[in-house]
Amino acid sequence: AKITLRQLLDHAAERGYGVPAFNINNMEQGLAIMEAAKDCDAPVIIQASRGARSYAGDIMLAKMIDALVEMFPSIPVCLHQDHGNNEATCLTAIRHGFTSVMMDGSLEADAKTPASYEYNVAITERVTRMAHWVGASVEGELGVLGSLETGGGEAEDGHGAEGELSHDQLLTDPDQAVDFVNKTGVDALAIACGTSHGAYKFSRRPDGDILAMHVIEEIHRRLPNTHLVMHGSSSVPQELQDIFNKYGGEMPQTYGVPLEEIERGIRHGVRKVNIDTDCRLAMAGQLRRIAMENPSEFDPRKFMKPAMDALRALCRDRFERFGTAGHA
Ligand code: G3H
Ligand code: 13P
Ligand code: NA
Ligand code: ZN
Repeated sequence: AKITLRQLLDHAAERGYGVPAFNINNMEQGLAIMEAAKDCDAPVIIQASRGARSYAGDIMLAKMIDALVEMFPSIPVCLHQDHGNNEATCLTAIRHGFTSVMMDGSLEADAKTPASYEYNVAITERVTRMAHWVGASVEGELGVLGSLETGGGEAEDGHGAEGELSHDQLLTDPDQAVDFVNKTGVDALAIACGTSHGAYKFSRRPDGDILAMHVIEEIHRRLPNTHLVMHGSSSVPQELQDIFNKYGGEMPQTYGVPLEEIERGIRHGVRKVNIDTDCRLAMAGQLRRIAMENPSEFDPRKFMKPAMDALRALCRDRFERFGTAGHA
């Protein structure tokens, strides 16, 4: 059945587990994620970005989720808007059957420029009020995601970009977090602790200087009843990098968020863990493998099936590691 983020994370908090939020764009990802959830008897958060909504189309996405819910009747599913940039994105998501939205007011509506605190509070409070009228949940974000190594600068190709943000802007301030939650009424709060989106998070295995898990512990101490969300939480496993590169990929050596650090977060109030890059990498490695090993192959299913199997195995591992398994 479809459930809200609030229902799911309240249950997770009571039982002390975390829930991975996997991004979805197409049927193959949906089937792989749900098969894994069924394998593990785990509830799941499936999230769609604005890009996913325009890629698949709102109607296709909504009907696909309905189909998945019908095919896997024992699995609770939360359908969540990832990184909503304004009121319209959040409300149209709800209209299309999303049970939860992220209003990311940490950035201006262009989703690129860091926003003022006042802007973030005002827009998040508005969206939360409206979403709650119709029973949907809201995730807000305070602090700007980005690398403490580069001052927030991120580049898609693994080469550093020019950094601009101070250390303080890149980490969520615990005092401000208390004020933000009180003023907005959000159900869940995404915090910034030095992670960034994409494959190129860290140039070495992260320690406390560049992955600030202590920020999470402090915020949880101050807001014990607020569900915390970690974005940019792909681990970018070495074995997935190796498969990708073995079959002609060109990914420079990189490091993600170690699973032990996520487990530590879950012990301190983290309930939603956003993962997209690992899912992409798991699938892309298999697509490359089939293309190289079998150059005469042209049946898309022969490419997609191994890709789905790899995604399913990845999701299974995260359900086990985060303690989600067995809680459906
Ligand atoms: O926040 C980023 C997620 O990985 C979604 O990425 O906007 O390319 O769909 P996307
Ligand atoms: P990754 O790029 O680390 O998978 O993060 C995904 C995310 O935060 C989506 O909101
Ligand atoms: Na989100
Ligand atoms: Zn994110």
